[in-house]
Amino acid sequence: MAMWGGRFTEASLAEFRDFNDSLSFDYQLAQQDIAASRAWAAGLLEAGIINADEAAQLDHALADLALALESNPKLPLETQEEDIHSWVEAQLQAKIGVIAKKLHTGRSRNDLVATDLRLWTKLNSQQVRRLLVGAIGSLIQFADRFQGAVMPGFTHLQRAQPVLVSHWALAYVEMFKRDLSRLDDALVRLDVCPLGCGALAGTGVAMDRTALAQRLGFQSAALNSLDAVSDRDYVVEVSAAASICMTHLSRLSEDVIFFCSGEAGFFKLGDAISSGSSLMPQKKNPDVFELLRGKTGRVLGHLVAILHTLKGLPLAYNKDMQEDKQGFFDLIATWQQSLLVLSTVLPHLSVNIERCREAAELGYSNATDLADYLVGKGIAFRDAHEISGELVLLASREKKPLEALSLTQMQQVCPLIGDDVYPALTIEAGLAKRAALGGTCPVRVGEALASAKLWFDGL
Ligand code: ARG
Repeated sequence: MAMWGGRFTEASLAEFRDFNDSLSFDYQLAQQDIAASRAWAAGLLEAGIINADEAAQLDHALADLALALESNPKLPLETQEEDIHSWVEAQLQAKIGVIAKKLHTGRSRNDLVATDLRLWTKLNSQQVRRLLVGAIGSLIQFADRFQGAVMPGFTHLQRAQPVLVSHWALAYVEMFKRDLSRLDDALVRLDVCPLGCGALAGTGVAMDRTALAQRLGFQSAALNSLDAVSDRDYVVEVSAAASICMTHLSRLSEDVIFFCSGEAGFFKLGDAISSGSSLMPQKKNPDVFELLRGKTGRVLGHLVAILHTLKGLPLAYNKDMQEDKQGFFDLIATWQQSLLVLSTVLPHLSVNIERCREAAELGYSNATDLADYLVGKGIAFRDAHEISGELVLLASREKKPLEALSLTQMQQVCPLIGDDVYPALTIEAGLAKRAALGGTCPVRVGEALASAKLWFDGL
């Protein structure tokens, strides 16, 4: 039975109920609704609204319900209640009768649902954190496993300059570390308790809201009741953190897909993480990375959806807000699964070290090193760039790499070039030169790897 039937004389239409009810998805908030209810009941006792015996009965019944849910989290789905809040109350009434009817004194489903969803987000974000840390750990291991391997680095998807494979992996470590701190930032603002704000105007019960917030493990109590019941910023913020993180995951996936292509051939997928084609026997497809890229679109969609849901809402609560949940639950589940999958597949991804090196040597990716060499001879960089470009043109006409040009050929373009140009054009020399902080010089990358490990071990 609905919690609000008193002023109604007709029953709800089935079609209306189907559309209006949220139990089919908000049942996932059951444990949070019980926790919030236990804290509220304790507050009602302190405020003198219920006596100690009633408080104890409510608390025991709620604890029993929590236990029953632990063994069967889908228990609420066996009923026809409107939402999880109605379900909890109905269960209590069935267990302890009239006392259960006192629980809703001074509270509303508006402050309750806002509290439940914050509690749920706090809990599930901790799991996201663990998985994100795990994903970072697997990238650090990948960087460690392929220390010293060199590959072409790209801009505009054109070979640009050689980089270490570890440098590539550690780039994503940086991104995911930012994602972690972004989530942590959001969790600070999320840690505020709306319970005790009533429907919109505040509760009529003399409730110590600070104690209530503490009882529920929140940092503080929300300061404005209108804001508290209608604030879904935390859904937006966590969704944004998820979207940015998934965007990183998607770019990583795109890199891997390209690196695994026949054209690149830099990375190899283990059998355990690849799929074949039903038609073409030779195929080994990077489905898992394509799915990570694809699921990113889905997560981004949820962020846009919640922003659109909120943008036109007047204060305070509006039923539109019920639409905050399904997308958000899916977003968190997709985020968690994607992070877990990344950690699972990375150990099965390997680098074709010879092929990577071969490719790094091609495409005139040492042309900048030649320009840098000329700068070392006292030529201004702009002129050095020009000379190096001319030599690239000459070498490409002869279909050979820069270092295959003879000294005479080079000196015809620039007489300052000496024999020492050849060692300067090797991959090793090019890498070693990029030695300022953040560069791909093996010493710097070694330090970056060591500090990533230190960071990870210190968590
Ligand atoms: N199922 C609702 C939601 O998720 C709970 C709050 C309902 N409040 C109301 N006044 N109808 O938003």
